[in-house]
Amino acid sequence: MNQKQGFSLRRILFSAATLVLLGMSPMVGTAQPDGAALFNNNCAACHKIDQDLVGPALGGVTDRLDEAYLIKWIRNSQAVVASGDQYAVDLYNKWNKVAMPAYDWTDEEIKSVLAYIKEQGTATASVAAGSPGEQALAAVEAEEGFPMSQVLWIVVFLIAAVIFFLAQQRKKLNEAYEEKVASGELNEEQLKEIKPSFKIKPIHAIGGGLTFFLIGAIGWGIDVAQHVGIQQGYQPAQPIAFSHELHAGTHEIACSYCHTGVERGKSATIPAVNVCMNCHNQIKKDAPEIKKIHAAWENNQPIEWIRIHNLPDLAYFNHYQHYKVAGIECQTCHGPIQEMPEVYQHSELTMGWCINCHRETKVDLDNGYYQAVHGNKESFQKALKEKGLTIANLGGIECSKCHY
Ligand code: HEC
Ligand code: HEC
Ligand code: HEC
Ligand code: HEC
Ligand code: HEC
Ligand code: HEC
Repeated sequence: MNQKQGFSLRRILFSAATLVLLGMSPMVGTAQPDGAALFNNNCAACHKIDQDLVGPALGGVTDRLDEAYLIKWIRNSQAVVASGDQYAVDLYNKWNKVAMPAYDWTDEEIKSVLAYIKEQGTATASVAAGSPGEQALAAVEAEEGFPMSQVLWIVVFLIAAVIFFLAQQRKKLNEAYEEKVASGELNEEQLKEIKPSFKIKPIHAIGGGLTFFLIGAIGWGIDVAQHVGIQQGYQPAQPIAFSHELHAGTHEIACSYCHTGVERGKSATIPAVNVCMNCHNQIKKDAPEIKKIHAAWENNQPIEWIRIHNLPDLAYFNHYQHYKVAGIECQTCHGPIQEMPEVYQHSELTMGWCINCHRETKVDLDNGYYQAVHGNKESFQKALKEKGLTIANLGGIECSKCHY
């Protein structure tokens, strides 16, 4: 159930390889600001460059389709489909007849988005503009101006310069030897004794290449790692220094003892003061942080915990469905909470994040819920075996499932 994160090793290596091949430095965010913003605000909810989402991956689309057609499509894809255009009709059917919104934009605006798509498609190296998390990442890198990876690239170029310089010196030295032999100052025997015999063999070239590649990869990795969690790692200070590490970790109190909502409904819910009092009317009752609990209890005031995970109102998420029905561990979405002295947001919580998991998670046929909802176990099982159905195949990417 490990959904792909934007910073998987494969992606890092692939990025580094692309960079080495292109011989360019990983400047992220050099896109026309216009196109990038338009894309991120309007298209990124459904499209990624390098990966299918609600709509197809857009990398390379500018090479496959001509500009006039793309402009027509983006301005009103439904009109193109309605015109009977075979490509459009096939595409629409292939994507389960999800209608893409119409964009009443000028040619310039559409072209700037296309330019951005093209650029992102070729420089797969840069973090694709997908989820807000990744956008934040790209934006920060662009702003920072001098990320770690560029320092490393400078190191690479310096090493290359030194190698070039040494090669020149070696050539000069050889010429000098040759002159001495020619002028009779040295004979062949003497030459063999003093001339360094190091020869560049293919293995050295390969080793050198790999070293450069690794430096690049490490640089890119550091860069990405440094920025992970900009959007995700939200970790506000709480009014009482409540530690999950202590309660859920050391003392192994069950998550659902406090977050009772996961057993029955949409919200996990935060425990009320009386739950704390079950234990803290006795335990450590003179500690300053515990006195705050007692004060809230005596004044009949709730503790004003600051909410960390929060989807916008337009999206619907249900804990019961994921935790009880689908049997997904809290940690899959919230990370190692039992190791957190202070809770932070572990996952992106973007639409792409939800949909990725729905696309990747296979339907669990033994789960009574699916049987109840989808009925006819036999034919369902057959389809499952043949196709390996995912949550997405069962409607888990239909807009109305997550949006009111
Ligand atoms: C609500 C989701 C959604 C949004 C938002 C969206 N698209 Fe799409 N797009 C789709 C779907 C789904 C398809 C596949 C065709 C269909 O079903 O209509 C598609 C198809 C496309 C195609 C054709 C791809 C191909 O392989 O031929 C292009 C180009 C495209 N979209 C560009 C954009 C751009 C640019 C934006 C933003 C201005 C955008 N889309 C916004 C859902 C969306
Ligand atoms: C099931 C029992 C239990 C519940 C319920 C419980 N705690 Fe605790 N809590 C403990 C134990 C055990 C300790 C560790 C005491 C020790 O270190 O000796 C502790 C320690 C603490 C401490 C650290 C105190 C200190 O200064 O060392 C704080 C703060 C705290 N709890 C807050 C809370 C809050 C807020 C709640 C309600 C949301 C809560 N606890 C609910 C058992 C509980
Ligand atoms: C003793 C009670 C208690 C236990 C046990 C407990 N929690 Fe909590 N949890 C709280 C309290 C109080 C808060 C609000 C303060 C905070 O964010 O630290 C909270 C906050 C959270 C949040 C962040 C909520 C937000 O604001 O978005 C998550 C996620 C969470 N808990 C998950 C878990 C998981 C997973 C476990 C089990 C591994 C667990 N909790 C065990 C009391 C508890
Ligand atoms: C499939 C992913 C997923 C799983 C599994 C999951 N959560 Fe959540 N959790 C979320 C999302 C998404 C939100 C934000 C919901 C919102 O804003 O409507 C959230 C919010 C929360 C909150 C704060 C808001 C609230 O609902 O009260 C708490 C506390 C929490 N989760 C605890 C837990 C605990 C405890 C478990 C395990 C028993 C768990 N979660 C399992 C995704 C998950
Ligand atoms: C770790 C994997 C995972 C993540 C992340 C996840 N889901 Fe799910 N989701 C599932 C599974 C598995 C089911 C199937 C359970 C079921 O059908 O009740 C499901 C079912 C659903 C359903 C019911 C679909 C149906 O066909 O009835 C909705 C709605 C839903 N998820 C919304 C969300 C939203 C919103 C998010 C993001 C905030 C999200 N999910 C994130 C795994 C995930
Ligand atoms: C599995 C759940 C899920 C499905 C299915 C889903 N969405 Fe979303 N959507 C979300 C969540 C969660 C958010 C809020 C987080 C975010 O903005 O990424 C969201 C945000 C959005 C936004 C606001 C985008 C933004 O960047 O603020 C739009 C528009 C949207 N969805 C349209 C759609 C359309 C159209 C479909 C159907 C093609 C769809 N969604 C299907 C979960 C879903």
